[in-house]
Amino acid sequence: MADRSILMEQLRFHHNFYLYEESVIRDAIQALHTQFPSAQFLYSVKCNPAGRVLDTVFSQGLGADAASAAEVDFAWQRGVPKDRIYFSAPGRTEADFRRVWGRCVLIADSLHELEMISRIAAERGDAAEVGVRLNPDFTFTADQGVPGKFGIDQEAFFAQAPALAALPGIRLVGIHVHAKSQELDAAALAGYHRKMFRLAEQVQTLLGTPLQFVNFGSGLGIPFAAGDAPLDLETVGASFRAALADFRKTAPDTRILIETGRYVVGKSGTYVTTVLDKKVSRGKTFLLLCGTLNAFARPAVSRMVRSYTDSPAPCEPLFTCPWSEALIPLTDRAEQETVTLAGNLCTAADIIAQDITLPRMEIGDGLALTNAGCYAAVMTPMQFASLTPPAQLLLTMDGRVVNA
Ligand SMILES: Cc1ncc(COP(=O)(O)O)c(C=O)c1O
Repeated sequence: MADRSILMEQLRFHHNFYLYEESVIRDAIQALHTQFPSAQFLYSVKCNPAGRVLDTVFSQGLGADAASAAEVDFAWQRGVPKDRIYFSAPGRTEADFRRVWGRCVLIADSLHELEMISRIAAERGDAAEVGVRLNPDFTFTADQGVPGKFGIDQEAFFAQAPALAALPGIRLVGIHVHAKSQELDAAALAGYHRKMFRLAEQVQTLLGTPLQFVNFGSGLGIPFAAGDAPLDLETVGASFRAALADFRKTAPDTRILIETGRYVVGKSGTYVTTVLDKKVSRGKTFLLLCGTLNAFARPAVSRMVRSYTDSPAPCEPLFTCPWSEALIPLTDRAEQETVTLAGNLCTAADIIAQDITLPRMEIGDGLALTNAGCYAAVMTPMQFASLTPPAQLLLTMDGRVVNA
């Protein structure tokens, strides 16, 4: 979490705000470059597309994993070259492809998308180099595939690869898989990487030529709950480097891509809100906070899920685990109080914690919530009740606080 005095200072200007720390983002990227020196990392823009966050990430040499035409534009406008912007998402239109044509690498998510890209390329007289997203016949933990809405089933692709490679206007040059987010088990991640290298070798054999790129997707997790042990990145990196050395024997020039969103920015963000009101109702104390469900939705979603079951399964990136952020009152009071933390929306669903014991807070006090750098502001329905959205700020390397 950012230095408390910096958060307190910003509370003088904002009732609620996000603060992202540039140094934390840079440190995370440095760790990735150290452990995966031969990989090109692609930042998953959807995770946090704030302009200054993108500037920071791209200035450190990351490319873009763009999930919409607009995200391709964000990266392109910041000078990211075409061969470092990969556009991959399900359910796109011809207009999406035409809008980004020539400014990124296209990854087809379905047979229909491959045909669409082929048609546009043929019409333009282009030879588009495209990748395909595959739904592999394995998961992180099993040697068997699962049905899914993403990509083309590996078996279907293998059965049709020669015909697909012969579609007019396109050259199949890469594969993309993203099987899971938020893995904290180094052995599981390393096992997934090995399966991916094997899949890439199979595709190369099938196409009779080395691939230009293999995109491993993400999986790199970060600790959210207090008890989460951080991912052992050194172990994952060492295993990856060994598997890559083998793969290089058949594919010396293939670009190795790894996508990541949360690993780069998740821990960099703190959300801060203010106690706007305090009331006691029939023996229960309520703190009314500025902007919860409509400013940082994850804690309210988490509370909702906790209320349904004691052992909820993750539903990334909306719900990772119970108590996926720490609640830190920005007060020095020692005495404790049991309170319910509710937001200022006109809906009873806007509650982030019930009957929780915290240091006593009064009207005007701040409350900080951690892990707010990823899937936070961007995944929050901010239009409801037309309240003012929270500020998004960046703490720069030289200690300035600027709009993010
Ligand atoms: C295809 C793809 N790549 C990368 C990511 C980023 O995942 P993470 O934030 O876990 O790194 C996602 C997240 O949903 C994704 O769908």
